[in-house]
Amino acid sequence: TMKTGLIGAMREEILLLEHDIQNLKVHQYGARKFYEGTIGGKEVVMCLSGWGKVAAASTATTLINVFNVDQLVFIGMAGSLMENLQIGDIVVGDQLIQHDVDLSRLDGFHGIEPPFYKKFRFPVRQAAQRRALEAVKQFTYNLHDDKYPNINKQYRPKIHIGAIGTGDQFVASQKGKDKIVERHPELYCTEMEGAAIGQVAADYNVPCSVIRIISDNADEEAHSTFAKFLFEDISKISVEIARLMFV
Ligand code: ADE
Repeated sequence: TMKTGLIGAMREEILLLEHDIQNLKVHQYGARKFYEGTIGGKEVVMCLSGWGKVAAASTATTLINVFNVDQLVFIGMAGSLMENLQIGDIVVGDQLIQHDVDLSRLDGFHGIEPPFYKKFRFPVRQAAQRRALEAVKQFTYNLHDDKYPNINKQYRPKIHIGAIGTGDQFVASQKGKDKIVERHPELYCTEMEGAAIGQVAADYNVPCSVIRIISDNADEEAHSTFAKFLFEDISKISVEIARLMFV
């Protein structure tokens, strides 16, 4: 069976899962703690990365090189970039794109080698998409069956499979949103870690799944919508989805 490296950017996103880990050992590498053990008999190493691409890449590298994980899983929040993607909806990434990388002025310019990762775009393997999708689907079945007393009964998220955009910015304006969508119209949502983990996973040929719950519309109200979702909803939702990755 696979040893999973589970990453979240903020404590609200994954830290409650610590209570599910059996034979827990906590290791410190650099600035971060790594929670190693098993959930339902499956090996896991959980880590809070912190925000942004560098934090995420550093965490992923340690999970691979020190803990020898066989797959990386990221769960967290994202801002919607599409009209039909509502707050609370869930996106399973089929590709991860670093939307803030722009090398276009060098494109085709003679004598300059094309970048190793053209477009800084990282496809998610079919099997890794499937594993994430199955957990998310089971979560919505459980919602329908009223299995979560502390989650609002009205909560009926739609599941989407699509491109997730990553950049070192909290997007909080229509203008900022438009700029991203203009260059990457395929993006469903925007966040700050996924495609960095995707790049490290590609470096080491390790599968990587990203699951994002929409917390805001990346518009002028994004900061307050995000904060409300963070403090009221995310920890209940993301922990239940994370658990279902280990059944
Ligand atoms: N994560 C959640 N909402 C976000 C936003 N609007 N921009 C970047 N990352 C986010």
